[in-house]
Amino acid sequence: MSSQNPPQSSGNNLDPWYGNYADRTAGLAASEVRALFAVASRPEVVSLAGGMPAVSALPQELVVESMNRVMSEQGSVALQYGSGQGVPKLREQILDVMAMEGIKASADDVVVTTGSQHALELVSKLFLNPGDVVLAEGPSYVTAIVIFRSFQAETHHVAMDEYGMVPESLRENIARLKAAGRTIKFLYTIPSFQNPAGVTLSWERRLEVLQIARENNILVLEDNPYGLLHFDAPPPPALRSIEQEGVIYLGTFSKTFAPGFRVGWALAPHAIREKLILANEAAVLSPSSFSQLVISQYLDTIDWRAQVDRFRGVYKERKEAMISALAEYLPNLSWTDPAGGFYVWLTLPPYLDSKQMLPRAVKELVAYTPGTAFYADGGGRNNIRLSFCYPTPESIRIGVRRLQNVINGEIDLLETFSQTGPMSTVSDRTFSAPPPNLD
Ligand SMILES: Cc1ncc(COP(=O)(O)O)c(C=O)c1O
Repeated sequence: MSSQNPPQSSGNNLDPWYGNYADRTAGLAASEVRALFAVASRPEVVSLAGGMPAVSALPQELVVESMNRVMSEQGSVALQYGSGQGVPKLREQILDVMAMEGIKASADDVVVTTGSQHALELVSKLFLNPGDVVLAEGPSYVTAIVIFRSFQAETHHVAMDEYGMVPESLRENIARLKAAGRTIKFLYTIPSFQNPAGVTLSWERRLEVLQIARENNILVLEDNPYGLLHFDAPPPPALRSIEQEGVIYLGTFSKTFAPGFRVGWALAPHAIREKLILANEAAVLSPSSFSQLVISQYLDTIDWRAQVDRFRGVYKERKEAMISALAEYLPNLSWTDPAGGFYVWLTLPPYLDSKQMLPRAVKELVAYTPGTAFYADGGGRNNIRLSFCYPTPESIRIGVRRLQNVINGEIDLLETFSQTGPMSTVSDRTFSAPPPNLD
């Protein structure tokens, strides 16, 4: 059994069905921080943990207007089952959305899914056998790692720096895994405003990563929920705009419209697309007709590009609040400074453990996600993902100030029990400042 397979933890002695669960559920253990997050959702806690979009920046009357029109004009279609591939008109409109990232495609190759999360699940179901390997940036999106594990595949991490995935590390991983006789099924990547690191793959590296994938016959799974949410300049064009046959592209309306509708999509090469439709039908028969028609109506009648601009403005202001609070309260730590998206990746001194520190943080009324959540191999111990998407700029400042107390308290505690002498607090000590630790 691989070292990555967690111990059987899909049930417990109080569960009479403990022995009956499928092997694949071993990866579905509730995370240890889940209980803390229940506490963290109390209003007095500033949560820098979740990745919830700022839906309050979407005027609700626009949504209501679209919903009313759908019900009055196409009510019987909206309430009915639909096609397993998705509403044809919406698939055409999705082409316009993807065109903003340089992608040219045919609506025939778009499969609408229940959020891009479901597309990730379907692609994994199509490709992953137990023991297969998925390559992904280190760190990577926590729920993708959970899905890959639920198909009993292993995630191996490719190092990242401020320009995204490091091609040399990709090459090394492929060579090592091939030499060990392992099967790499795909490379999962979030090239723009990555979750959780906030970094963006440079144009040169996009070309190089695709070249490496091509040379090694490795399919690329490009997950792009944040690409349109840039603060100033757009990110380089999507990988799918450069390479068609070797890339499955995932998009979503969760961040540019609203996640409550649960509408995302996959754009896949023909043969894969066929299998995706069958898998989609097997899983949900058809994605929600109502949600798709409302989004289609919204795209048709509302200036959705202006709304995306509004979201960008909101997130930019919040990102700036977070970066300036970090500079003020935690000046000796290092962090990434994203050019879009929702997340900052913070690096603590190496002797701190962000997961162990979380109960203290929640007690101090601030929550974050520990870095280990984003690694399949225990990495990220001294990292934290901070989300700036949901709290107001004022709350972000308060949250970061509380985080300073938490970190200093933790250092004091370690100092008390340490044999090695004093470790100064983060606000008055200069750590040798390494580049952001992303591996
Ligand atoms: C990288 C990434 N992929 C996929 C998703 C899932 O998005 P949805 O299912 O809402 O489209 C998220 C959500 O946060 C994400 O950050």
